[in-house]
Amino acid sequence: MPDLPILVTGGAGFIGSNLVDSLLAKGHAVRVLDDLSMGKRSNLPLDNPRLQLLVGSVADAALVSQAVAGSQAVVHLAAVASVQASVDDPVGTHQANFVGTLNVCEAMREHGVKRVLFASSAAVYGNNGDGQAVDEDTPKAPLTPYAVDKLASEQYLEFYRRQHGLEPAIFRFFNIFGPRQDPSSPYSGVISIFIQRAQQGLPITVFGDGEQTRDFFYVGDLIDLLEQALALPVAPEGAANVGLSRATSLNQLLQHIGDVVGSLPAITYGPARDGDIRHSCANNQRLLGRYRVGEPTPIAVGLAALLGK
Ligand code: NAD
Ligand code: UD1
Repeated sequence: MPDLPILVTGGAGFIGSNLVDSLLAKGHAVRVLDDLSMGKRSNLPLDNPRLQLLVGSVADAALVSQAVAGSQAVVHLAAVASVQASVDDPVGTHQANFVGTLNVCEAMREHGVKRVLFASSAAVYGNNGDGQAVDEDTPKAPLTPYAVDKLASEQYLEFYRRQHGLEPAIFRFFNIFGPRQDPSSPYSGVISIFIQRAQQGLPITVFGDGEQTRDFFYVGDLIDLLEQALALPVAPEGAANVGLSRATSLNQLLQHIGDVVGSLPAITYGPARDGDIRHSCANNQRLLGRYRVGEPTPIAVGLAALLGK
């Protein structure tokens, strides 16, 4: 079905637009459904005749049905990606982060579309890693509405697999970074904020003592995995962690950023965010077993690429 479009929800955002570029470059037709709440038209090559943009919310069941109709597969990325935003607005974020997934499942059932990739999150483990790398069987401990919605979405996708023959490939992304991650909101990803402020010489605020850790994964490596998952003959059951299996503290991250930018501005330490996970690191053995993973990009290399160095 090479000519039917691949639907990318959230395709105008950071991860989505990187995927859209890559799919178009490989000759696929692509349809994007995005409400442009975080995503931007300027992230998309709208003059490409193989790209179609539908503007609206995944919470709108009729629009999702229209978007899914005639697609060959769905990559469901649309969500409010900020954990903190879900703490501040559980009801609002639930519409995108959970109802949106359910609408995608129903529309796929209605139109007989089978393959769906889903962007779940390391957030589902909460603090159960206890400083160690978490594998997929680690008990789940969602601490925030964002994490609850991601875990419930995963479980609904598995229900639709059993009941209606959907073929979900579920990924638990750890912290993804790279070009087009939008730094403009206080809810934005930490690397995008720190780099922009370092480049502009503006002070940086670290929430907590900076010794919290994250497993940062370069977006280019992720896009390659997503494309493999679209092409797999069988969608594997159960989620796969997407991380390097390397923990980097925010204080170490700042050192890397200082090295790449050339200097660091003033850094202040404030109270930790509510629901913030202390340590997050992926055991990525399942990922390595399922997918061809080349030499993954180390954080220093990814940061340099991000700054065009
Ligand atoms: P992003 O904010 O750049 O992309 C999300 C996109 O979804 C945006 O374009 C936004 O406009 C769109 N969107 C939001 N609500 C919508 C709605 N109701 N209807 C339609 N579109 C809507 O964030 P991202 O980092 O590219 O995240 C993509 C996906 O990956 C999200 O599901 C996020 O939860 C997940 N994820 C991201 C990370 C990460 O580190 N960036 C880690 C784990 C999971
Ligand atoms: C991120 C993703 C989330 C994903 C999760 C998976 C974003 C916005 N969030 O959440 O979608 O599911 O990874 O692990 O992409 N911080 C500061 N100062 C700042 C901003 C952040 O100290 O100005 C701190 C935060 O308190 C946190 C860390 O940096 O300790 C990372 O924050 P953030 O980039 O928002 O990501 P996560 O909450 O890990």
